[in-house]
Amino acid sequence: MLPWIYKNLKPLEFNSVLDAFGGTGAVSYLFKCMNKEVVYNDLLKFNYNVGKAIIENENTLLLDEEIDLLLNFNGLSSNTFIQRTFKEIYYLDEENLWLDQIISNINTRYSENIKEAGFKKAIAYFGLIQACLTKRPFNLFHRKNLYLRTTDVERNFGNKTTWDKPFEAQFRKFVKEANKAVINTNQKCKATNKHILEWSTNNYDLVYFDPPYLGNNGRSETINYQKCYHFLEGLVSYNIWSDLIDFESKNRKFKNEHCVNDFTKTKVADSIEIMFEKFQDSILVFSYKKGGVPTIGQIQNIMKKFKKRVYTRSMHYKYALNRQNGNAELNREVLIIGI
Ligand SMILES: C[S@@+](CC[C@H](N)C(=O)[O-])C[C@H]1O[C@@H](n2cnc3c(N)ncnc32)[C@H](O)[C@@H]1O
Repeated sequence: MLPWIYKNLKPLEFNSVLDAFGGTGAVSYLFKCMNKEVVYNDLLKFNYNVGKAIIENENTLLLDEEIDLLLNFNGLSSNTFIQRTFKEIYYLDEENLWLDQIISNINTRYSENIKEAGFKKAIAYFGLIQACLTKRPFNLFHRKNLYLRTTDVERNFGNKTTWDKPFEAQFRKFVKEANKAVINTNQKCKATNKHILEWSTNNYDLVYFDPPYLGNNGRSETINYQKCYHFLEGLVSYNIWSDLIDFESKNRKFKNEHCVNDFTKTKVADSIEIMFEKFQDSILVFSYKKGGVPTIGQIQNIMKKFKKRVYTRSMHYKYALNRQNGNAELNREVLIIGI
């Protein structure tokens, strides 16, 4: 979708931009390539880490010899938290051991308090996060379902070959990808880790919103990002992970109090209005799909309270693992733009 987003945003006059729900960093990266002054934001710490690695970072790389050192576990006596807590939940025993070891190496070698080390650590975590995602069925952590990988059955979904690739190979591959993505433009870019409704400053020429999408039934198992990706959030909060976990749950998810979501059916319209009001002095660009809650028309009406001219652009898009309210053929991505 990035070429389409580019085509529609290029005519707008802006230099500074806040990507309020940065996620993978793909849209922030587009803005960075457009030579804009980008602030990447995401509520989740593991995503913030991605923003730090490829948006804020201008020139620090994780060198081959440094990758080798991170993968050298000789003489290491690491914590066994993942091995003990997640046995038979997401990964095999030897993979859980590998995870405990690599995290121990990353955290001992790189301190967040030193600028360059902080970027190297962010790249290492980028590699680790991507490796973890590719080895999971559906790329999610919402269920205890390691058996989907290990049961000897004929499959008509998923990618067992990738699930079974060793962590080390995947880690090396994704660290290289992150290194390749590090670019220096002549604009300062930044990554932040805040709840967007608690944002205090407002001095961006444009704010781009791509919040969690709520389907037309008003619920979705995957709308709460903490519930789907708690394991990755735990990886980057390793030392306090045990305080966050609901040990009664089968899949060792986070306790409910750590699963903030202001984009549920009852809250989403109010949250959108709060955001539009907060950033009303900026160009507003809101990304959503047709057939959701609220509807595109309702979101346009909220935007019209704060903006003189509101218009939409849309395109067809078909997701791989999502039926889009019943019929993927009808799915349309929409940009609602207020200037
Ligand atoms: C639809 S995704 C964004 C996808 C993104 N545009 C991309 O290209 O990858 C929504 C993101 O919003 C984040 N998020 C959810 N609630 C948030 C909040 N209150 N403040 C900031 N970010 C939030 C989630 O962690 C998730 O990464």
